Amino acid sequence: MCGIVGYIGDRDAQPILLQSLRRLEYRGYDSCGIAVLASTIKVHKDVGRVEQLEKALPRNKGKLGIGHTRWATHGKPSKSNAHPHIDCSGKIAVVHNGVIDNFQQLRDKLTQEGHRFHSDTDSEVMPHLIESYYQGDLEQAVRRALVDVHGSYSLIVLAANHKELLVARNESPLVVGVGDGENFVASDVPALLDYTDRVIYLEDGDVGVITDDEIRLFNQAGEVRRETNVIPWTMEDAQKGGYDHFMLKEIHEQPRVIRDTLGGYLSAIEPEVDLGLESTEFEDILLLACGTSYHAGLVGRYLLEKVARIPVRVEIASEFNHSNAVLGKTWVIGITQSGETADLLGAIKKAKQMGCKTLAITNCVGSSATRIADQTFYIRAQPEIGVAATKSFIAQLIALYLLALSQAKMDIKSREGLIRELRLLPDKVQLILDGEDGISKYGKYLSTYDNAFFVARGINFPMALEGALKLKEISYIHAEAYPAGELKHGPFALLTPDTPVIAIAAGDDTYEAMLTNIKEIKARESPVIALADEADEDIDKFVDYVIRVPSVAPIFSPVINSVVLQLLAYYAAKERGCSIDMPRNLAKSVTVK
Ligand code: G6P
Repeated sequence: MCGIVGYIGDRDAQPILLQSLRRLEYRGYDSCGIAVLASTIKVHKDVGRVEQLEKALPRNKGKLGIGHTRWATHGKPSKSNAHPHIDCSGKIAVVHNGVIDNFQQLRDKLTQEGHRFHSDTDSEVMPHLIESYYQGDLEQAVRRALVDVHGSYSLIVLAANHKELLVARNESPLVVGVGDGENFVASDVPALLDYTDRVIYLEDGDVGVITDDEIRLFNQAGEVRRETNVIPWTMEDAQKGGYDHFMLKEIHEQPRVIRDTLGGYLSAIEPEVDLGLESTEFEDILLLACGTSYHAGLVGRYLLEKVARIPVRVEIASEFNHSNAVLGKTWVIGITQSGETADLLGAIKKAKQMGCKTLAITNCVGSSATRIADQTFYIRAQPEIGVAATKSFIAQLIALYLLALSQAKMDIKSREGLIRELRLLPDKVQLILDGEDGISKYGKYLSTYDNAFFVARGINFPMALEGALKLKEISYIHAEAYPAGELKHGPFALLTPDTPVIAIAAGDDTYEAMLTNIKEIKARESPVIALADEADEDIDKFVDYVIRVPSVAPIFSPVINSVVLQLLAYYAAKERGCSIDMPRNLAKSVTVK
């Protein structure tokens, strides 16, 4: 979490830093700040968004600078806790993303040596630590300081009297943008794309010295060369494109995302799936993920067990990290949009240490997950800016369909039938988007309630979880998800006429049982909105409202239903006037454990 940026070149640094920070606000947005090297280092920071900071800024002239947008971990959002942090002499300023595990020991030692601290953050030890080793050579001081530091970091260091930025990376993302006569640094590519499409991804353990015309990188073995990559998408891809919110734009991109992800791995003519993966011998699969990606994993379990007849477990990465899991010949698959979620990276590392082969399913080229896992399967969602994952979730589902089909143990005809249906999904999703107005009215209806329940069975139970997550994260309506059969074991106590229930009544072998559960819910007088197949003629009799979804083979219903649930959450949040793309207290990429 947190986004950091740096600039060195011949232009005024301040507007470039502010623009780059705006592009990174999805990583955190409770406070922000910049430091520019003029005759001295000028630091400006405060609680709130970049837009507010910008309004209050004097025009600082300076061609070197650093910036930070924060998602609080150590210390509440406040001016003193905002970055950049600066040393006692006012000559070394640092922006940091990550967590310094041993900051308290370092802070105690530095305090004894006479350093004075002004924040509650772990990050503030960095400028003081570098200052304590500084004898005129910034690079040496940074390298020496890092020896003392345990934890995760991406850092940019700015120092008075030095025409260079020092950067370092360990377990937090950092990218250098390559310009002509100028260079840029940032936590993520969107911050750079206004200025350059050439980027170098740093690796863990890298330290860099960046000037306006040189990028020198070192690791423990000495100077290293890292490849320069050209980013294949533009800033336009990361703009709202006329939509009110990134989330809505990203929901509408889903037919394209499905086509692109299928197109990368499914032959256009033959029913052949080629994931380009080296074959791995395994007896079972463990899917690991966090948040929305975990819900994709839960669907993945159904798919892999049904289509490929492989035993599958799914675990939340942060739980797996503290578990006593026993893994045998297990193929461990981490699902992560960003490829940077700290809990997931820790989980993949743990699985590797246990001797398992690992695969990362991710959206982000060059992300940490791709470096840690043995193999990578890229989804093709393109950059996702809205904090609430939508198109990346759909692309993850598509990846899991492809994975299951690549391992299918079923007769050729059934497999080909599934592939045919898979190809129809973009059009089916488009049908839902075409009926958006009809769905929006139910979103507005939900916005008037304080609580909601989502229920489903079978392969759609993860969709109930995902629907509830979407609603709570962007509209702040308390939402719970249950397998419909579980309601009677406690949650019924909460059902009242003020508790709407969204029931996914998929046309599969769970349908009859769902109807029974819906009747039980109605007996408690809760209003019920059902998501039901367009061909379902019975459902109207049992529920208050019906949202019709296009008919698909039952195995593909999660794709269809999730789009409806995304729109429901979006319109509920919009009606409540919420900050949809940047919900309170959240961030898109969670790079702390
Ligand atoms: C954050 C985001 C979620 C996302 C989760 C996992 O909490 O707000 O939308 O699902 O991280 O992220 P990942 O990048 O690993 O899929």
